Amino acid sequence: MKTLPALLAIATIAVSGPKVMAASMPPPGAASCSGCHATGAASTSSVPRLHGRDAGEITTAMNGFRDGSLPATVMNRIAKGFSDDEVRAIAAWLAAQK
Ligand code: HEC
Repeated sequence: MKTLPALLAIATIAVSGPKVMAASMPPPGAASCSGCHATGAASTSSVPRLHGRDAGEITTAMNGFRDGSLPATVMNRIAKGFSDDEVRAIAAWLAAQK
């Protein structure tokens, strides 16, 4: 059973990996937001900046886009691609960015 310790090591990495990553790496989907939403403070884009915004505000907006209560050109379609958990993780990560 030489393979068992190796398998356990891989399983441990797989389980602890996302938690270690959470501090620095964006959760799934979050990196795609910066394609349109600027990340820098000195942004001239008309798309609102998300980094450093309140997580609750981002979550509320995403829910509004999903249920159609907030008018949108593209965010309604984008928001529908994420689950509640994913939106929460993305909002928390964005809020923690400077
Ligand atoms: C294709 C470009 C594009 C991408 C990708 C995109 N957005 Fe947007 N976002 C917009 C636009 C444009 C608006 C303005 C509303 C509209 O027209 O849909 C907006 C508005 C928003 C708002 C409301 C901000 C405010 O102050 O009113 C939030 C929150 C938001 N987006 C979150 C996200 C998140 C989270 C992601 C990544 C999962 C994301 N967006 C990806 C283009 C994009």
